[in-house]
Amino acid sequence: MTRHFLKDTDLSPAEQAEVLDLAVELKAAPYSRTPLAGPQTAAVIFDKTSTRTRVSFAAGIAALGGQPLIINPGEAQLGHKESIADTAKVISRMVSAIIWRTYAQAGLEEMAEHSSVPVINSLSDDFHPCQILADLLTIREHRGDVAGQTMTYFGDGANNMANSYALGGVNAGMHVRIAAPAGYQPDAAIIAEAEALAAQTGGSLTVTDDPVAAAHGADILVTDTWVSMGQDSAGRDDEASPFTKFQVNQELMSLSNDAIFLHCLPAYRGKEVTAEVIDGPASAVFDEAENRLHAQKALMTFLLER
Ligand code: CP
Ligand code: NVA
Repeated sequence: MTRHFLKDTDLSPAEQAEVLDLAVELKAAPYSRTPLAGPQTAAVIFDKTSTRTRVSFAAGIAALGGQPLIINPGEAQLGHKESIADTAKVISRMVSAIIWRTYAQAGLEEMAEHSSVPVINSLSDDFHPCQILADLLTIREHRGDVAGQTMTYFGDGANNMANSYALGGVNAGMHVRIAAPAGYQPDAAIIAEAEALAAQTGGSLTVTDDPVAAAHGADILVTDTWVSMGQDSAGRDDEASPFTKFQVNQELMSLSNDAIFLHCLPAYRGKEVTAEVIDGPASAVFDEAENRLHAQKALMTFLLER
């Protein structure tokens, strides 16, 4: 059966741990596995802009023995002249994997339904699960383990990163706290799914509008842009921004358990995080960015070898 990775919970807790183990192995020995060996191509489709995702998938596919085919916004018939279903049926006969950054999660589900090869979500409006694998790898490297660690996310608690931290973090047995203003907290469906998962993994999800309480004793502090791709910045990024008191600064860091700081990047210094924190000694954001490469190579290997 073709396996896809559309959201964090498409890997069971054991499978997620297996992918992270493989990422550690591939980081140490980058060319030890070649699931794309021979004349194989993987399509990497973008409906939104990207730096890390584009470069890490291109480099990772090449390192696994394959050829990346990058399709930039507006270059394919997909979305304007041709349906998702027809696109999936056509290109999955020609490539070994489809990696897609898009808007609606439902589009990814439709692509997967009609694709005979693995479909990977490389960011949708709802989830960014590849990023969370890279973050978990970074947490392992800096804190020794992921299970049992407390990670607080500050800011827009209803965006793709927040949803993926809630599900992917709890899947890994972490205690995830989301500190976000009212109106920007995770949907009830995400909270319910994370809570059900927590009962299996020993993790937990806490949602609060109190950034100070949420920072207390946390092992990882993390944030993301206040304006995600496709969103209107009005009301999010001005002087009256509801996110202002959720900025990660030295004061919040000092309440933590000597936390590391993570951010998926691109970052806006002076908005969601101060320069002092993101450019300071506790920041692991460039390890995190590099780990996109290793985590996604492991993910592709896992999906292609199934
Ligand atoms: N973190 C991340 O996905 O970065 P890009 O948007 O540059 O791919
Ligand atoms: N929430 C951000 C993440 C960027 C990697 C966005 O969707 O724009």
